Amino acid sequence: MSGPRLLAFAASFRRNSWNRKLITLAADLAREGGADVDLADFREFDMPLYDGDVQAEPGIPPGAEEMARRVAAVDGIVIASPEYNFSMPGTLKNAIDWVSRVKPMPFRGKTGFLLAASNGQVGGIRGLWQLRIPLEGLGVTLHPDMYALPWASKAFGPDGRLVEQERLDRLRVMIQRYLEMARKLAGGTALNPTTGS
Ligand SMILES: Cc1cc2nc3c(=O)[nH]c(=O)nc-3n(C[C@H](O)[C@H](O)[C@H](O)COP(=O)(O)O)c2cc1C
Repeated sequence: MSGPRLLAFAASFRRNSWNRKLITLAADLAREGGADVDLADFREFDMPLYDGDVQAEPGIPPGAEEMARRVAAVDGIVIASPEYNFSMPGTLKNAIDWVSRVKPMPFRGKTGFLLAASNGQVGGIRGLWQLRIPLEGLGVTLHPDMYALPWASKAFGPDGRLVEQERLDRLRVMIQRYLEMARKLAGGTALNPTTGS
C-alpha cells in the first residue's frame, strides 16, 4: 500500500529555527514510515497581511496561492509551530486566513499532525491548542496527540536526531499512528458545510 502524501513545514522564518529542525526530523521519520513528504520552507508561502480589498483586486497573493496548491496536492499537513504568547504566530494565522479564501478551499477533508518546539519547559503545546481551532474549523481532521519538544536548544544532536532516545521514540510512535490515520482517511471525510454532503 502506498503511503499518504503530506505537506510539512515549520511556521518560522528564523534561520536557526528549532521548529524547522523538528519538522525536518519529523519529515524523515514520516518518510521512513512510507509517507511521500513535500517539506516546504515557510518563506515559500510569504504573503502580505490579509486585506479584503487586496483579495478583491489584485487577488489572492502568489505565496497564498502556492500554499493552497501544495495543500491541495496532499492528503495531510504536518506543521511544527512556535508558540507566541500562548498562541500561534500571527504569520501562521495570516497564512491560514488567506488560504481559506482560495476556492475550492484546500484544507477541507485533509488530516493533520501538529508539533511544536520551544526552549521553555512546556514545549509550545499551548500554542498548538490554539492552532487546532482554525484548522478544525476549516475541516482538517487533526490527530488527537500532538508533539511538544521542550528545552529545544539542548534537544538536537549534530545528526538532527533527538539526543534523548525516549523523546525520539515517542515522536516516531506518534508519527506512525498519524500515518495510520492519514492512510485511513486519505481522500477526505469532511462534509461540505453548505450542502452537508
Ligand atoms: C513574540 C514571541 C512570543 C513568544 N511567546 C512564547 C510563549 O508563549 N511560549 C514559549 O514557550 N515561547 C515563546 N516564545 C519563544 C519561542 O518559543 C522561541 O523564540 C522559539 O525559538 C521560536 O521558534 P523557532 O526557533 O522555530 O523560531 C516567544 C517568542 C516570540 C518572538
